[in-house]
Amino acid sequence: MALQRELMLNDAQAQHAERMQDFLAHQIAAAGGWLSFEQYMDMALYAPGLGYYSAGARKFGADGDFTTAPEVSGLFGACVARQCAQVLGALGGGTILEIGAGSGRLAADVLRRLETLGQLPSQYSILDISADLRERQRLRLAQDVPHLLHRVRWLDQPPDESFAGVVIANEVLDALPVTRFRWHGDRVEVLGVIIDAGRLAWAARPASTAMAENCGRLAIAGGAWGDGYVSEYCPRLSAWTHDVTRSLRAGAALWFDYGLPRSQYYLAERHDGTLMCHFRHRAHGDPLLYPGLQDITAWVDYTLLAEASRAAGFALSGFTTQSYFLAGLGVDQEMQRLAGDDADQFARLANQARRLMLPGEMGECFKVMAWQRGTDLPLAGFSLQDFRHTL
Ligand SMILES: C[S@@+](CC[C@H](N)C(=O)[O-])C[C@H]1O[C@@H](n2cnc3c(N)ncnc32)[C@H](O)[C@@H]1O
Repeated sequence: MALQRELMLNDAQAQHAERMQDFLAHQIAAAGGWLSFEQYMDMALYAPGLGYYSAGARKFGADGDFTTAPEVSGLFGACVARQCAQVLGALGGGTILEIGAGSGRLAADVLRRLETLGQLPSQYSILDISADLRERQRLRLAQDVPHLLHRVRWLDQPPDESFAGVVIANEVLDALPVTRFRWHGDRVEVLGVIIDAGRLAWAARPASTAMAENCGRLAIAGGAWGDGYVSEYCPRLSAWTHDVTRSLRAGAALWFDYGLPRSQYYLAERHDGTLMCHFRHRAHGDPLLYPGLQDITAWVDYTLLAEASRAAGFALSGFTTQSYFLAGLGVDQEMQRLAGDDADQFARLANQARRLMLPGEMGECFKVMAWQRGTDLPLAGFSLQDFRHTL
């Protein structure tokens, strides 16, 4: 309640919240009074016209809910472009497919830098579930790189035609709906959502044998969970990543997100899981508050993502922190290039680099993983430190 008082809604948001509450109450009743958290998160994010990514809420920037690395600084996109240039150069050209392009900032920065590097992709495809954000991306690219707009196309589903190039996804995997469970040693519960006295509330049910066995494997990886340990895992990560990369014949897929190797993800100390919600730049842990109006995320289990690379027919070719990735791609040279002789601009960029790279900011909790197929390049972003051995 205290959080609710602090995060008061305006009239439009209150109406949206009411419609979402009615929708969820209907769905819960239709499902027999209980929805798994995975189903709930799916609806809260993607229900047509109501979900956070399907409705028109402003998500990015000062009046939005969160700030991502491309929004913090053009340095991020410049370094990602340098990584793409290495792959496109080795392939003799190709396509970039960006999944979940947000405001379009990363696409604009990557295209601009690739142009100066003489490595423009023949096409820059964007696959984004949000119609509202697709429109924002179009406006942004038309404003920032109008002469390159003809290279950009928006897809409704992963491409069917095979292509060579690079797939990029920054902060998309964390939105894939997760299963939430509670561990009691001798039994496991799956957490879900009910309506109690007219409000959304948590409710547990016994987990299936298959789910309990999976949780048992995670418990072995993390170790020494106490009674009541709560965490998550993402059952659809492998199928989803396979699907969006299936047409990449040759090249690299780059995944950026916050997350950990499995043994650290499931440490006993992290006994309340990794769910994180974002509403007006306030990060909190209550996903039942304002469904449809707030982003709901869970950290990525990078060991699972490494396993998914093999299942999708890729070689795992790098795993590092955002900080080492940017440093390996010459973020310092990019600062010099962007600032030129302007000392004030250099100071601004140095501040932005600190936000992207310091351990207490985005530098360490955000990781980057690379998959390759049809190429075996020593990718520059992983040249300083590669933590694959921790997976
Ligand atoms: C947190 S934002 C990140 C945006 C951008 N990559 C950035 O770093 O600023 C998540 C983006 O992924 C998109 N998205 C979420 N789930 C998706 C899905 N299942 N398929 C495709 N796009 C998705 C959202 O519409 C949004 O553009």
